[in-house]
Amino acid sequence: MSVSVIRRAVCPGSFDPVTNGHLDVIGRAAELYDEVVVAVLVNKNKSSLFTVAERISALTEVTAVYGNVRVDSFHGLLVDYCRRHEIQVIVKGLRAVSDFDYELKMAQMNHGLSGIDTLFMPTNAEYSFIASSLVKEIATYGGDVSSLLPDVVHKQLLARLAERNADADS
Ligand code: PNS
Repeated sequence: MSVSVIRRAVCPGSFDPVTNGHLDVIGRAAELYDEVVVAVLVNKNKSSLFTVAERISALTEVTAVYGNVRVDSFHGLLVDYCRRHEIQVIVKGLRAVSDFDYELKMAQMNHGLSGIDTLFMPTNAEYSFIASSLVKEIATYGGDVSSLLPDVVHKQLLARLAERNADADS
């Protein structure tokens, strides 16, 4: 009797906010695995523009199209989260060689800790320059980032920046 194992992968990150680059990697991972969990890191030491609940809500909306993707949050070690949720593979997008240095160390550390492997997925060239931090900076100074984000996230970003400007003016 053969027992079929569900092939489950995680796409971890801060997603503050989710960009078209993230979405491209998540969508391609969804074609390779039975289930993909997008896991938002809860990091109290890092200031973020969006709350974890807001990021989960946006991710849930923009990944609904895939059918086999669900969104969750985690804190602590990623490999502990993977073990608890029977996730066998970590999927990471690589934008450029500069990402590789740090990502390789994390992948080797995670494998050493748990035996869980990391799959590096080259980012689609059209998204290779996108980073959430840059998107926020450009939008803060009025630059057009509409082509870099899903529509719903772009609207959410403009609304949040407008709120912040209103708070600063009052
Ligand atoms: O989007 P980010 O901020 O680049 O994502 C980084 C993330 C969440 C993938 C990474 O910081 C992480 O896995 N953090 C969880 C804590 C952990 O497991 N640290 C050890 C890594 S070897």
